Amino acid sequence: MNTTVIDHIGIAVRSIDESLGFWETTLGIKCTGRETVEDQKVTTAFLPIRDTEVELLEPTSDDSTIAKYIEKRGEGIHHIAIRVDDLESCLAELRANGVRLIDETPRAGAGGAMIAFVHPKATGGILLELSQR
Ligand code: CO
Repeated sequence: MNTTVIDHIGIAVRSIDESLGFWETTLGIKCTGRETVEDQKVTTAFLPIRDTEVELLEPTSDDSTIAKYIEKRGEGIHHIAIRVDDLESCLAELRANGVRLIDETPRAGAGGAMIAFVHPKATGGILLELSQR
């Protein structure tokens, strides 16, 4: 599998506006944009650190997966995303190896990326996203 870098770390937060105080003011990592992904009911804020990003994930609705995650486990790291060159072939390779996937086919993520999630049961408890930019 052709993996490149950690694309981003997704962090579930109740409020992007409140969280930015720490990231921007305390750490000096500037937010370069926000995007709402309607079908995932989430607003994402992008905070690049060199070749990777912190992505703050704020639910836009009480029934979004991020809202449920925060309700159950509190704010914190939600997923880790690895950038790949060819998502389709990565998914085929994982399927061939019997790896349990959440997304059998690529779908649109934030920032124009194509993404797919691997099931935490297959990764030792981490929600893993594969991302092709
Ligand atoms: Co992500």
